[in-house]
Amino acid sequence: MSENYKLRIEKLRKELNDHNYKYYVLSAPEISDFEFDKKLEELIALEKQHPEFFDSNSPTQRVGGMVTKEFETVKHRYPMMSLGNTYSQEELLDFDERIKKTLGTISDLFNPGYEYVCELKFDGVAIGLWYENKKLVRAVTRGDGVQGDDVTNNIKTIKSIPLTLTDSDVPDSFEIRGEIFLPRKEFDRMNAELATELADEGYNDEEINERLYRNPRNTASGTLKQQDSTIVATRKLDCFLYAVYGLKLPFKTHAESLAAAKKWGFKVSNDTRVAKSLDEVFDYINTFEQKRETLPYDIDGIVLKINSYRQQEELGYTAKSPRWAISYKYKAEAAVTVLKEISYQVGRTGAITPVANLEPVMLAGTLVKRASLHNADIITKLGVRIGDYVSVEKGGEIIP
Ligand code: IVH
Repeated sequence: MSENYKLRIEKLRKELNDHNYKYYVLSAPEISDFEFDKKLEELIALEKQHPEFFDSNSPTQRVGGMVTKEFETVKHRYPMMSLGNTYSQEELLDFDERIKKTLGTISDLFNPGYEYVCELKFDGVAIGLWYENKKLVRAVTRGDGVQGDDVTNNIKTIKSIPLTLTDSDVPDSFEIRGEIFLPRKEFDRMNAELATELADEGYNDEEINERLYRNPRNTASGTLKQQDSTIVATRKLDCFLYAVYGLKLPFKTHAESLAAAKKWGFKVSNDTRVAKSLDEVFDYINTFEQKRETLPYDIDGIVLKINSYRQQEELGYTAKSPRWAISYKYKAEAAVTVLKEISYQVGRTGAITPVANLEPVMLAGTLVKRASLHNADIITKLGVRIGDYVSVEKGGEIIP
């Protein structure tokens, strides 16, 4: 008898995993939410009646309910490095020259002897997912790059992340890394909900504005650090995966690894391209600079990676980042920061200009610490005060 329950439980888990995949990874649901919920409820009931079949990776575990008092610190198996940044296409030419020199490839105009993979640079929080015997066993944040926090319970609530894998060619042990992000629509929904709550509590518009979530990335980061995974489950975090790590992986190129990860059920961006020349790279950059506003999530640039693993190895690493990859950041034309102080500058003509001293913020490729407030009337008009969040915009030149 018990064997029948076991089979039914297994069948429901498999069906629910498939439907999760179709809904959250492929965005092509096959059944209604109502039918899904019915199956989920049946599984919850069966698991309750038969605790001997408990599985911490069952789809029932995605609803949260786990409270982590203090996240365990875990050492990364592979250091979580960062990427070198560039802000101009000239700097990319320099990067490409260095690659060419190190690889010493025999190249001509049509065949440089190496390829780049162009990816979007998702503006979220880095995560490493560890899989053992086809099960998600740990999810670790970047931390200081050497060790991070174990946020597995929170990560399990993200529906597009598979908790179990089924393909026969999945390695016994591997790590996959990616970026946790909050879709813009969900960010807006959370802010609308918070604004309503605060208004109900009697806050005025200005007070509400001060308390709203500032941007999707900070909100994603704050959500991942929640102790109660039930709260995480109510916020629709998502995750794009962009790198596979492990011993003896059967891939020769980064693009192959992404194709395999996609086949295994991970959410891998469809906007990744292999580029055979810098011209193709520049096309990619320009295309997504146009498209970025229409994407349902934030990107802050693109990432270039040498496709061949052998060539990656040859190029190696600096202390902080790989020499085979670089990011190109789009210029922010406006950025939000905190006004720390207002000082007054006396010009050559004796005119006094108020200057906003800001919490340093990147704007159009420059770290901005000060901005002109032009004159006292403008301060009154804007109503700016110390401690306010201010949006700085690039007008003419930037005062560094
Ligand atoms: S690859 C060794 N690819 O940007 C470097 N990173 O400073 C491996 N990021 O920590 C990172 N999109 O959080 C890579 N397509 C992408 C990315 C990406 C966003 C983030 C990631 C990383 C940071 C690099």
